[in-house]
Amino acid sequence: MSRFERHMFVCVNERPPGHPKGCCKEKGSETVRALLKAELKKLGLTSVVRANASGCLDACAHGVSMVIYPEGIWYGGVTPQDVPAIIEQTILNGKVIDRLLIPDPAFAPDHKQFPILPLPQGKDNSSPV
Ligand code: FES
Repeated sequence: MSRFERHMFVCVNERPPGHPKGCCKEKGSETVRALLKAELKKLGLTSVVRANASGCLDACAHGVSMVIYPEGIWYGGVTPQDVPAIIEQTILNGKVIDRLLIPDPAFAPDHKQFPILPLPQGKDNSSPV
């Protein structure tokens, strides 16, 4: 078994103001990552799931961009308001959130459901987030 069950890589790449590609940082990715980390901590999941800062994921037009491994779920346009749903639906209950999927076949997951995360002893997947 690997040390962590899942990684959420959140792009926090920064480009100079006015850059034609823009960047996820200017769209609030650091806040999204901080909120993901806070939710994981609140739920006692930091030993099994990480919310890692990432460089550019080459999905700049869809930022804030993030990818969840090992499933390869690519989400785009992520806002702080999406964080509870990402944790509750995707991380805890193994469901892909269609409205957050990057609308590009190159980023499409090959499944919509994956195994529910085995939580540390004493944790309940049905806990409200
Ligand atoms: S700047 Fe975030 S994906 Fe490129």
